Amino acid sequence: MPTHVRLYSKDEELGKRDDDFKPRRGPTTTNLAKPWRWRKRRLLSVIALLAMGYVFFQNIPVGLGLVERGIASSMAPSDSTGKSAGNRVEPTGAPTRPRAVLDDGESSHYYDGPIKFYRLASTLHAITHTFGLRLQNLSSLQSAANLMPMACEMAKWDRNYVHMAFLGRDALSVDDILDVNGFSRGDCAVNFHDARSDYSKYSIERRAEVSVSGAMKHINDFMHPQAIIMDDSELEDAFFVRAMRYKTGEMGRALIEIPAGRYEDFLWMTRLDSGSLSNWFKPTIEILIHAPLRSSGGLIRLVRSLEDAEYAGFAVPRMIVELPADIDHFAKTFLKRLQWPRKTRHDTRTLSTLTLRRRVPSAHLSSEQASIRFVESFYPSVSEDNHVLVLSAQAEISPLYLHYLHYVILEYKYSSYTSTEADRLLGVSLDIPTAFLNGSGRFAPPSIRDMRENSSQSYLDEAKGDQPGSTPFLYQAPSATASLFFGDKWIALHDFLTNRLASSHRGAAERTKKFVSEAEPAWLEYLLELTRARGWTMLYPATPFVTIHNELSQIPEEYLRESDPVQASEEPKDAERLAEEAFLLADESPVIVEHVERETPEAQPLQDMLPFKGDLPELPQLPSLSYTGDIVNATTQEDLIQDYVPVFRRTIGGCRGVDATRKRIISDPTRTDDLFCFPGVDIEFDMSIKEDGVEVAHDALAATAGPEGAVEGVRHGTSKSVADGVPKNGEEAPVGVEAGKAEHE
Ligand SMILES: *[C@@H]1O[C@H](CO)[C@@H](O)[C@H](O)[C@H]1NC(C)=O
Ligand SMILES: *[C@@H]1O[C@H](CO)[C@@H](O)[C@H](O)[C@H]1NC(C)=O
Ligand SMILES: *[C@@H]1O[C@H](CO)[C@@H](O)[C@H](O)[C@H]1NC(C)=O
Ligand SMILES: *[C@@H]1O[C@H](CO)[C@@H](O)[C@H](O)[C@H]1NC(C)=O
Repeated sequence: MPTHVRLYSKDEELGKRDDDFKPRRGPTTTNLAKPWRWRKRRLLSVIALLAMGYVFFQNIPVGLGLVERGIASSMAPSDSTGKSAGNRVEPTGAPTRPRAVLDDGESSHYYDGPIKFYRLASTLHAITHTFGLRLQNLSSLQSAANLMPMACEMAKWDRNYVHMAFLGRDALSVDDILDVNGFSRGDCAVNFHDARSDYSKYSIERRAEVSVSGAMKHINDFMHPQAIIMDDSELEDAFFVRAMRYKTGEMGRALIEIPAGRYEDFLWMTRLDSGSLSNWFKPTIEILIHAPLRSSGGLIRLVRSLEDAEYAGFAVPRMIVELPADIDHFAKTFLKRLQWPRKTRHDTRTLSTLTLRRRVPSAHLSSEQASIRFVESFYPSVSEDNHVLVLSAQAEISPLYLHYLHYVILEYKYSSYTSTEADRLLGVSLDIPTAFLNGSGRFAPPSIRDMRENSSQSYLDEAKGDQPGSTPFLYQAPSATASLFFGDKWIALHDFLTNRLASSHRGAAERTKKFVSEAEPAWLEYLLELTRARGWTMLYPATPFVTIHNELSQIPEEYLRESDPVQASEEPKDAERLAEEAFLLADESPVIVEHVERETPEAQPLQDMLPFKGDLPELPQLPSLSYTGDIVNATTQEDLIQDYVPVFRRTIGGCRGVDATRKRIISDPTRTDDLFCFPGVDIEFDMSIKEDGVEVAHDALAATAGPEGAVEGVRHGTSKSVADGVPKNGEEAPVGVEAGKAEHE
């Protein structure tokens, strides 16, 4: 294999290859049919995984020496002349049965000699980056059959280098395994490795385990796999599971187990790149439900649909239910019996992760108090990874919602490539709105023709036949029906609300008309202000993952008018209350607009439900709508932010003159100080951009906003710009190679 030899330098032969070294694949793989060839996104880094085996010997270091020598020498062309060929020929037949074992009878697993890998070196050398799958109980061949289609599919999408390693005790050759499963090396661009040691069939349990960890260490040294995928641990031998968990923990790699029987359901993971797969376990989701007054039907329907959803292979989200002051009997009984997460029959140790909060009865809730309560009901501990799914009691969720959310979050937030659009993603909605934010009009989702960056033609061609027209889209409108909000954006909302209320209370904020309909909760208006100031967008799906029911819908408590035609005496109280509201409210009670009850598609694997063969288009290609529902391009989107921010600062932030118009530095994206002017608080202007938009210098002025907004003092600062398509550092930093130490001890 001279081509492979050329790819590596000396250091790399010694196992120091790192992930920055990414040769393109050879012609064999480029010939294969690759979907979406025209897309901009290309092979990122690699993911790897594998399971291979090699062996080491805990108390017989000689074994390790042989392996390494064997691997190193097989790289060299001079190898064929072979000096000590005897060492590299694998023995056949059974090893000698030690006497002690003979005595106790039948077991065929008796061999405990040094471990050597005769078949691993040649393929390991062919590795660059890898994603590996491992197969083990080959006697049944079941794992091979389970994982092989997934490995081949992943190779076909070509975002990762895929490796598959065979471990275990059986001696069937790799070609035979492929044959039995109906695959040939030609139609599956996966690198296969036989990582079984010598005499694997006769190994005692401990030797088998050591051989698995030894193999994993070699694999790690050679290819730094980013993620490792294996079959359900319930189906695997205990020694294998132990070794894999221990080794991957030590290597700091994600070990993804595909739940038994769900191989088809998880095929969407083959469209993810190594950055996403290596962060498989990072994102966590918490569910937040706000139960409405005197109406338990919706809550019960929603929680039932959550219970019936698919959770195999994921951590079940924690659930917080905010209860009103008066709860009816049905809701009480239902919550008492509710087990969350749902327990299996014999499971007594799983703790419930359900949290109930119940309001103390009090006078009418103002929209400000309602918003505070809402924002206080969740706070992420890790802003990048802890997200919250806000569900209204009208929702009935699709069983695949968690698959969808994980897929989207991993793709857009954790991929090796990031973009401005991804940083600006406020969250992911499971629903498609039927009206505009103001509650009127008929919202029509954009179609593939509205996609940006000339991609629509390519997508139209590809989508021919299946669901033409529907595509996910970006919309600058937060939604309260069923939306996931990212942790960092939540923290920013928390900070924004703090400043926003402080500004209102000191009388600096004008009372403006609400844009969002009063049939929606009050926090939505505050979130919309922040969303517009920051240019954030929500990702909406092509087909909804939630059905919104109308029959139990209610006006939020904060916008209920106490005045009821019958009790005319209440009227003055109402008027008083309206006068204290932060926004100008309509005189009339709001009217609820019927939400279209869209059916969620019937059960099928996620990749078949999504358009574009389950592939997620890049965010800059998706159609983008402003908060008013107009289709915008990147330029107009920027203009909208530049136009809105000064207006916000002036009308609500308490800024005057140049304080309102001059660009400021946003040093921490979870802070919103740049939108406000408070007496005695420093303002950091971004001096790299002058009023007329000409770049002047990379210094910034720090000013103290006195009564006149006088500028005092100079401070350094730089404006931050995020370029599209810049690989995130750190994701794929090479892993330190601690060559062969641990195992000797
Ligand atoms: C491996 O396969 C053999 C033969 O089918 C079976 O008896 C054994 O239970 C399997 N091991 C596991 C852990 O499933
Ligand atoms: C988009 O189309 C225009 C004109 O058709 C072309 O000049 C431009 O290169 C295209 N851009 C991309 C990203 O394909
Ligand atoms: C509601 O918003 C839509 C879209 O922005 C607009 O066309 C419509 O006129 C608005 N309706 C009212 C009553 O303001
Ligand atoms: C963006 O949209 C505006 C208004 O529709 C248009 O004038 C402008 O040319 C567009 N910019 C680009 C880069 O397409």
